[in-house]
Order: sequence, then C-alpha cells, then structure tokens
Amino acid sequence: MSYGKSVIFLSVLACGILAVSCAGTDVYKDPSAPVEKRVEDLLSKMTLEEKIYQVTQWTYGKNMNANNVETSMKEVSPMIGSLLYRSTSPEYYNMIQHKAVEESRLGIPILCGFDAIHGYKTIFPIPLAQSCSWNPDMVARSCAVAAEECRLSGVHWTFSPVLDVARDSRWGRVSEGYGEDPYLTSEMGVAAVRGYQGEDLSDTTSIAACLKHFVGYSWSQGGRDYQYTEISDQTLWDTALPPFEAAVKAGAATVMSAFNDISGVPASANSYTMNEVLRGKWGFDGLVVSDWGAVVQLMSQGAAADTTEACMKAITAGLDMDMVDDVYLTSLDSLITSGQLDESVLDEAVRRILRVKFRLGLFEKPYIAELPESERFLLEDSRKLARAFAAETFVLLKNEGDILPLSSDRRTVALLGPMADNREDLMGSWNGQGDAGDVVTIREGLEASGMSVKYFGGCPFDGDDRSGFTRAKAIAAGSDVVVVCLGEKKGWSGENASRAGISLPRIQLDFLRTVASAGKPVVVLVSSGRPVEMEEIARHADALVEIWQPGTEGGNAVADVLSGLVNPSGKLTMTFPLCSEQQPSFYNQRPSARPFMGHYQDISKKPVYEFGYGLSYSDFEYGELRIDHESVATDGRLTAEIDVTNVSDTDGQETVLWFIQDPVASVTRPVKELRHFEKRLIRAGQTETFRFEIEPQKHLSYYDGDGVRHLEAGDFRLMAGPRKVSFALL
Ligand code: NOJ
Repeated sequence: MSYGKSVIFLSVLACGILAVSCAGTDVYKDPSAPVEKRVEDLLSKMTLEEKIYQVTQWTYGKNMNANNVETSMKEVSPMIGSLLYRSTSPEYYNMIQHKAVEESRLGIPILCGFDAIHGYKTIFPIPLAQSCSWNPDMVARSCAVAAEECRLSGVHWTFSPVLDVARDSRWGRVSEGYGEDPYLTSEMGVAAVRGYQGEDLSDTTSIAACLKHFVGYSWSQGGRDYQYTEISDQTLWDTALPPFEAAVKAGAATVMSAFNDISGVPASANSYTMNEVLRGKWGFDGLVVSDWGAVVQLMSQGAAADTTEACMKAITAGLDMDMVDDVYLTSLDSLITSGQLDESVLDEAVRRILRVKFRLGLFEKPYIAELPESERFLLEDSRKLARAFAAETFVLLKNEGDILPLSSDRRTVALLGPMADNREDLMGSWNGQGDAGDVVTIREGLEASGMSVKYFGGCPFDGDDRSGFTRAKAIAAGSDVVVVCLGEKKGWSGENASRAGISLPRIQLDFLRTVASAGKPVVVLVSSGRPVEMEEIARHADALVEIWQPGTEGGNAVADVLSGLVNPSGKLTMTFPLCSEQQPSFYNQRPSARPFMGHYQDISKKPVYEFGYGLSYSDFEYGELRIDHESVATDGRLTAEIDVTNVSDTDGQETVLWFIQDPVASVTRPVKELRHFEKRLIRAGQTETFRFEIEPQKHLSYYDGDGVRHLEAGDFRLMAGPRKVSFALL
C-alpha cells in the first residue's frame, strides 16, 4: 500500500460520507465516557492505514541534535500519530493540530514530544547535578516549570526522566541521569514524574513523562555510546530495573526503549523487558516509544535481516511507537495482510497510544493559546527557582582555611579561565530550547553581586594557545583572590559524547598551575557533565567547587555560593575516580574475594572523592547511631536515629545518607547500599534528629534474577555518616 495524498483524499471523502452515520455514536468524542470505552470505540472505527500512522512518529521543526539529523522534513500527514515537535511556536503547533483534527477522518490529535531533559526554555542544572542536591522537591518543581513552558508551546510529552544508573564516567550520558545509585535514581525519577505530570495529566500545565532508556543502556561496554551491554539477570533486577519500577508505579505515562543490546536481545526487540516485566509484572498500560531509529538499527545489531523482520520483532516485543525510521509505516501493512502478524498486536499498540492521548485531554483541548514568549518563558519565578536549584547542586570539594565564602576583604577577584564568561556551555547538553543569550555567566553573576571583578579568560578550553597565561598571572597577582573557571564544553558530554579519558585538557591544568603560582588564594570552579580527574586540580586549589552545568541562572548561583548568601549543601552522586583507568569506581560494588589485594599496582585504590562526599560552610557532628531493638522480625519495624549538630555559627543544610550492608546472603550483596536519605536545615548551634524506619521487606530484601524478592534472616549493618551499628533480622 502506498500512503500518498490520494489516500488522504479518499479518507477525507469517506469521512464525509460516513459523517451522518457516525454522528451520535462516537463514544470516543464524549469526554464523560470512561477512557477505556473511548479507546475501544475509536479503535473499532480505525482502518489499518490509520492504525499504522498512529504508531508512527515523525519530526517537525528545527533539528536540535546533530546526532539525529533528518534527511528531509517530510510533509506532515494529518493521520500521523506523533511528532517530535522542535519548534517553540504555538501558531505552528495549532496549524498542524488543526490539520490533524479537521482533515483526518477521525480527527485524532497528534501527540507532540520533545527532549526537555533539564528544562525547556528556562534551563535547570543537568540531571546529574540535580541529584547532587538530594532534594527531590526541587527536581519536581523544576520539572513542573518545564512542563508549563512545554505545554504552552505545543509539547505534550517530554522524553525525560533518564533513569540509567551511571556505571562509567567515560559514557557521555551520565550527565543526563541521577548518578550511580538506583535508590536515589528512583526517588529523583518519581519526583520528575510528579513534576511533569502533576496531579492530573489532562491539566493544561501537565505533560507526559517518558522513562528512558529502557533498559540497561548505561552498561555500554567501555562507556562507549550505543554499544552492547552484558548484564546479568540479577544485576538487571537489582540495579537497572528498580528506578523504572518506582517511576511506573508513580504513574509515568510513557517509556522509551533503549538503544542497547541486553545480553543478546536488543532493548527494542526485548519481549522479556517490555511485555513480561513492564506490562506483565508492573501492569504498565501506557505507550512505549522506540529511541531514534532504534527499530531499523536492529539490523545493525544483528537481530534482524531486514526492515520487515525488524518491524516484526519490535512490535511483537511490545514496542508501540516507531520513532522516525518509518519501519512500522512501511512494513506493518504487508506483515498483517499476508497473515504473518495478527492485527491484534497492532491494535494493542494503538490502544496504548490512544490511551495516553485521552489521558492528556488532547481530544478535548487540542489547541493552545497563542501567547507571546514573554508570557510563556523564563518567568521571574522560574528564574528564581533555577537560581536556587543550581546553587543547591554545587558540591564544595575543598575549602582549606575556610577561604570560602569570600570575606569582604577579599572582594577584588581575578576571574579567569574558559568558563568564566561563557554562556553556551553552562547550559550543558540537551539544553532543550534554551538560548545562550538568556544565560547569566559567572562574570555577570559575580559583578551583579557587587564584587570587584577583574575578568580575563586567558585560556581556551583545549588546544595549545598559551598566549594569555602571562597576563592572567599578572592579574592574579594584583587581586585578593583568584577564581579560576575550568571545565568541559557542553558537547563533551551527552549523547554520542563518550571520552576515553576524563581529565580536563592539559592546557587548562597548566593554566591553573600558572595562575596559582602568583601566590594568591585560589578558588577553582569546575563545570562538567561528568566526574573529571580532580587530584591535580585540587592540589593547586585552596577551594574547589564542582558546579556541573548549572543552566540559565548558573552565574547568579555561583555568586550566591561564593559570597555566602547560599551555604553549599550538595553531595556527590557519582564517585570521582583518580583517573579513567581506576573505573569501575561506583561505590555499590560487590565485595572482592581479597578486599585488600588485587587493586591496580600502579595507582592508588582510593577514589579522589567518594559517593556522598560534599562539604558545607557549616560543620556538622554526628552523634551515636541508635536503634530501638537489636533484632527485628520480618514483619516488624526497627527505628534508627542519629543526632546531627551544627557546631558552626552558620546555618546549613545536611543530608544524612543511610546505608545498609547485608554481609552474607544467598546472592552476594554490595558492600553497602543507600536505602534512605533526608535533607534538613540545621540552624547554627542546633541539633536535629534524623530517623530511618526500617521495614525489612522494603529495605533489607533483594531481587534475584527472576525478579523475585528475597528476605533472608541474618546480621545486617546500618551506616549513617561515620557511624555504624549491627542488628539481626530474625
Ligand atoms: C536519541 C536519544 O537517545 C534519546 O534520549 C532522545 O530522547 C531521542 N534521541 C529523541 O531526541
């Protein structure tokens, strides 16, 4: 079958002829009818061609991602199921939606998706940074801002949150996720879903979340993007799946299948993960979209000989919508009419897509108000939130002699380095529709805060141009304090941005050494999308702050932290290894047969900064770790408490991380696992009591490779801050 204009014309004609008989019996048009009834009614009226368009996604608007280059902008069919909508124009959006609603036979609105990964127009810190805030509420609020900006521009669906648990800093996409811990990733993922989807998906300020990449993408071999992933069933269940399970249970509307091949079965053709686990075990009834071109890529992966086989494998594995490669559009018809594929498989995919459209209220409100940008984007409150959130994601790694916050007698600042007056790279990768012109640079932030700033870049991001070094050193020598802004360009992390080494380019390190030799106190700010090698940087710094890629309000947030207006409270959610070769360095590894041996002979075994590390301008002291019983029954509860005192004269926020260790189990467990965390403000001189209610089934059990949870009696260890205590599960 060919899907050309003549078919569209015939469909319109048919609609006209059928219009009289349809009237009055269109349950799907009745907003008061239950969603399932509307779905069935609409599905029963659809032709094979209409169904095939419904499971197809094309792109429309400007191309934001060099990796996803479109060969051509296709004419949008009014029957198309979904568009990757890359314009910010409500007028454009309304135009296309009118076409779908008025020119297609059944008037099914188009579902418009976009990658608002850490903001749409107001850009928030990258997700890896967000996780370092340990503040799910901030995550939710930033997602709510993104949702509103999206919806006002015609985007109903964001391809976020990214729930890939980080495993290797070389993989560029660690910037998009919430770090190396599955529990923290789950909590942040749930918060993101709450923020995007709100109380009710059909609200005009809500958008559908999309959990990605399902599943195991971050296990890419060697940290190289799109590579094969070897994942045992137990690790899949233990580490990769839990964040998805939590976010599905929180009501996420959609899921995206991943690019990777999971131990021999690519994620986009994986019936076990999509049909059995996602649908069967977790009861997910929303849609699964492929990643970009992932269906046709089943051929490159060696899972399909041709597009027909790729189509067959993907759709029968439970992949509902085909993103941009048109494999479904070109293969489904012959597969079904030849009897190779039962139409009920396609029906099920269409059902799931329609369900999401009904839940979003698209049939009732397909169009949007055509508001000017000033009423849609970068509203004052959104900027305020972006500023506060960014400051909360910064991690103070070193602060010798309490050089930070900058005291009033250290207010003449030499501001140096490639990041110091940079807009574009502060946004990080996947910066949505963010404009560099809207970004506050570090220089602008410090100047606006009243500091006397002597700015000079002095050093490029990379290359060999050292011509600015001498002048930079002279400026450093003439100032009270030197702030050196180093880091990665935004394209150095993100998709298809893996790096063999995680050090900053040599020129930046040489620059730091040169300006530090001026003898003034040195504050180093590192802006990066991944953990970078910090050992040498820290050696030349009195104070060191990882500011990640903080987004639109980055410069103001830096000023807030350097001036002491905001007390830093971030803690690392990815280990900073000594060097790339020290990896894997994630904290939650399983114990070695000889824990004190076997490490690389030529480097230290210790990472530079561990998971959970982060300083504050306050000093916190942890009291004894108390438990109310020394043992607990499987159906009982054990309460643990710890007092944390702020022994400084500065108010500060502290996050207590609670870890469990199960030293002996039928399936070996990691050396420790985060099971709970809580962040609180502790006023100067005050004590706060932090509590963890341990529920054995929830906190002490683990998954086996079949997805069955086990709870085994025996000894456990509980850790919080520097304290440890043992207890028994009876
Ligand atoms: C490819 C990326 O892997 C995915 O994360 C993104 O959502 C899609 N392209 C759409 O842009």
